[in-house]
Amino acid sequence: MEFIDYNKKYKDEINTIQQNQWGNGTDTDNIVQNLELYKIKLAVENERLIAVIVWHDEEEICFLDFVIVIPEFQKKGIGTRLMQFVLEDAKTNNKKAVECEAIEAKGKINAKKLLENSGFNKQYETKNYWGNHLPNYFCKECGCKPCICVMHKYRKNLV
Ligand SMILES: CC(C)(COP(=O)(O)OP(=O)(O)OC[C@H]1O[C@@H](n2cnc3c(N)ncnc32)[C@H](O)[C@@H]1OP(=O)(O)O)[C@@H](O)C(=O)NCCC(=O)NCCS
Repeated sequence: MEFIDYNKKYKDEINTIQQNQWGNGTDTDNIVQNLELYKIKLAVENERLIAVIVWHDEEEICFLDFVIVIPEFQKKGIGTRLMQFVLEDAKTNNKKAVECEAIEAKGKINAKKLLENSGFNKQYETKNYWGNHLPNYFCKECGCKPCICVMHKYRKNLV
């Protein structure tokens, strides 16, 4: 397996991975059409997409948009390795912190251990966060439309 920068031949696979995880309201097109804003790192094995992480710079912080490792490759350290690319990039660009929004569905936060092991702290949580923003979106994580997932805001300070 290798870690590579974004290559457009993986665009459809990124979309598929996102849809498999969250449903059909995903934003791959928006991301890959705005590569001057978004930064993407991929994990691939024999030209198959295994994992993707997407982040972007804001004025003082770096915002982690999402990280997905396909289920059969989870718990092998790939998410942690991808997170290191984001943290290194944020430090290089003198950001004060990295922030992200973790999803709680059915009482479980998939990214909780990844974030806490990587030094993130929870700031606050908001119920029905995506459901209120995108009422027509059917969420595969909670199985509801509107989505009833809870958003947990996490932050890692770098200074
Ligand atoms: C969250 C995610 C990216 C972690 O990737 P990963 O490659 O499995 O992570 P790592 O192998 O580096 O493991 C990091 C920690 O997370 C835990 N973990 C990994 N996958 C997990 C899962 N599905 N549920 C609960 N914990 C999980 C690991 O056990 C490990 O903790 P530990 O060392 O204390 O045991 C992956 O589970 C995933 O893609 N989940 C679905 C999408 C998602 O929720 N993304 C985050 C929000 S944008």
